[in-house]
Amino acid sequence: MSELIRSIMRSFPLGVVVITTKWSDNLVGMTVNTFNSLSLNPPLVMFSADKTKGNDIPFKESKGFVVNFIDDEKLFDIFAFKPIKERFREVKFIEGINGSPILLDSYAYIEAKKYAAYDIGDHSIIVGEVVNGKFMRDNFEPIVYYNRGYYKLRK
Ligand SMILES: Cc1cc2nc3c(=O)[nH]c(=O)nc-3n(C[C@H](O)[C@H](O)[C@H](O)COP(=O)(O)O)c2cc1C
Repeated sequence: MSELIRSIMRSFPLGVVVITTKWSDNLVGMTVNTFNSLSLNPPLVMFSADKTKGNDIPFKESKGFVVNFIDDEKLFDIFAFKPIKERFREVKFIEGINGSPILLDSYAYIEAKKYAAYDIGDHSIIVGEVVNGKFMRDNFEPIVYYNRGYYKLRK
């Protein structure tokens, strides 16, 4: 992508979540800014996973995933930059769909079973069908990712 397009994309605020799954016996979680809803009927959600880093494989090879909605940027750093094996040592979680971790510091989460995966360019679009969702707390300040930083939205 050219530097011009990169800087235009940096000027565009995006939501950011942590997507988790259980892949064989490994807990996997990653910060993504490509999550969105896709369809209401059936209820589908999607995100894109970077194939050049192998980020697609756990989600293609497992049966479901959890979308963790988070308002603490420390967790986004853990799930983007810490070594994969250390990530779940630093957070509290319970097991959700097919063993996918639900982060207890999330303010809400969605559980999805795998619906489809499409290879597009150097990413894969991972599509899940929503089977459950829950608010964990009423008070939260959502975060957007903008110009390489995190910003809290306050009402
Ligand atoms: C703000 C932000 C958004 C990201 N969005 C995505 C994304 O949409 N898809 C993706 O595959 N990786 C994304 N990443 C990178 C992954 O979080 C990272 O590659 C993953 O956690 C695996 O870690 P590793 O690359 O160190 O193995 C994002 C990182 C940050 C900081």
